[in-house]
Amino acid sequence: MRQLEGKVAFVTGAASGIGAASAAALAREGAAVVVSDVDGVRAEALVETLTGSGSRAMALTQDVTDEAGWPEAVRAVERRFGRLDVMIANAGVAVKGLVTEMSLKAWRQQTAINLDGVFLSAKYAIPAMKRSGGGSIIVMSSVAGLRGSSGFSGYCASKGGARLFAKALALECAGLGDNIRVNSIHPGVIDTPLWDTIPLGKDGLGRRHIDAARMGHNDAPMGRAGTADEVASCVVFLASDSSSYMTGAEVVLDGGITAGAMPRRKI
Ligand SMILES: NC(=O)c1ccc[n+]([C@@H]2O[C@H](COP(=O)([O-])OP(=O)(O)OC[C@H]3O[C@@H](n4cnc5c(N)ncnc54)[C@H](O)[C@@H]3O)[C@@H](O)[C@H]2O)c1
Repeated sequence: MRQLEGKVAFVTGAASGIGAASAAALAREGAAVVVSDVDGVRAEALVETLTGSGSRAMALTQDVTDEAGWPEAVRAVERRFGRLDVMIANAGVAVKGLVTEMSLKAWRQQTAINLDGVFLSAKYAIPAMKRSGGGSIIVMSSVAGLRGSSGFSGYCASKGGARLFAKALALECAGLGDNIRVNSIHPGVIDTPLWDTIPLGKDGLGRRHIDAARMGHNDAPMGRAGTADEVASCVVFLASDSSSYMTGAEVVLDGGITAGAMPRRKI
């Protein structure tokens, strides 16, 4: 018996990186998967791959910051699959820039996706989860939600906000007895397309490539970047009944980055 047989999982930002790996892993464990992304073409392409290997999946072209689109998105899922059990609030961007150079527009755009998007994902998933008898909400935060990162103040603020949002919501859901669990995941450096073109906050238009493999090698005590599949394994665990007594928890996957001082590495 697969771990998520009979469950329906909604993944935002699912066309790339951690979201795509999570959608695939959830599908492998038997869940019907909603592949939601602002990039509808790539979402459709992933759904074709998933359905081609026998999974149930549907694509949604969705900007997580657009509140008006959320009620219909959830209705479409219930029409298609009859229920909603899991929400992975994963869509996110990382904007780089000194505070003195960051435009308010770039700050707000990042916060809208990384924090407002998480709020809206939960707000519209919860009523559907109640109709299904409970559920699991997984908030994709970051190690940048646990400690500061120079040049990424806006990212840290949004990810730290998402972390405490998850804890407050976990208490709210537990208090209401809705059988809905809420946990956050805190990846370190994961080698995904996120790093290929990091937006620069000055005007929101400039882009910079950051070599994630090299950064993982230099920064992580384990000496390498993580993979999207390694994060996806954790997503499956938190989505499944194996984590049935976990709520308000934060799971860190960072190759040791936040464990303490980094040993000097011989290259
Ligand atoms: N890659 C890392 O090192 C790392 C580390 C810690 C946390 N994270 C977090 O993991 C999550 C996924 O990151 P990733 O590395 O897979 O990045 P990615 O760039 O590969 O994927 C992000 C996806 O989100 C989508 N997206 C962006 N804005 C959106 C919007 N407004 N509405 C809907 N979808 C939108 C993009 O189209 C893309 O498909 C993010 O929240 C990120 O902050 C990543």
